[in-house]
Amino acid sequence: MRFPLDVLTVVTGVSGSGKSTLVKEILYPALLKSLGQKPEALGEYESLEGSLRYVKGVEMVDQNPIGRSTRSNPATFTKVYDLIRDLFAQQPLARQRNFTPAHFSFNVEKGRCETCQGEGKIRVEMQFMADVFLTCETCQGKRFKKEVLEVNFQEKDIAEVLELTIDEAIVFLEHIPRLGPLFSPCSMWG
Ligand SMILES: Nc1ncnc2c1ncn2[C@@H]1O[C@H](COP(=O)(O)OP(=O)(O)OP(=O)(O)O)[C@@H](O)[C@H]1O
Ligand SMILES: [Mg+2]
Ligand SMILES: [Zn+2]
Repeated sequence: MRFPLDVLTVVTGVSGSGKSTLVKEILYPALLKSLGQKPEALGEYESLEGSLRYVKGVEMVDQNPIGRSTRSNPATFTKVYDLIRDLFAQQPLARQRNFTPAHFSFNVEKGRCETCQGEGKIRVEMQFMADVFLTCETCQGKRFKKEVLEVNFQEKDIAEVLELTIDEAIVFLEHIPRLGPLFSPCSMWG
């Protein structure tokens, strides 16, 4: 079996042919081992050969949710959001209002909308049906208090920044010290 490097490789085959076993029980742990880490479990295989010196790291990505709740997103998960909150706290209006980075978090009781506790929606329990979620009327789904949303960076408020796609965020944050470099191709993929 050959796995080329520097390209996206897809393992295909009929159900039950052993794709999951090959990737999860052999390739992933064998690569960890070649990187000097201790895999939890390692299936039986004869050998792993090739340009292993080019492999600097290995990550298993599966379909498990990345956070416990709806409060996690790619920005919070990668910690990029910490830097974005710092950036918003440094804006003149934020300084004038004594906002700290915590005010730009929807997880703490400072800047978040308290009607929905930063969820942007309200859960309505339906007696015999699945719960229904309604957009929070106080913040219109924006998750923050009005005073916090008035702080803009490059004409966007914190809620709009959270709505950016990764491609949009790359352009938006390109020239920001500490943030821009995180989005450069080499640091994302290297
Ligand atoms: N090389 C192998 N030799 C013997 N049995 C194997 C081998 N690889 C996998 N199996 C067994 O075959 C079964 C199916 O394997 P696996 O779940 O990896 O298939 P899959 O291709 O991922 O299937 P699916 O497409 O349904 O997810 C499992 O019981 C697994 O233990
Ligand atoms: Mg499978
Ligand atoms: Zn709200």
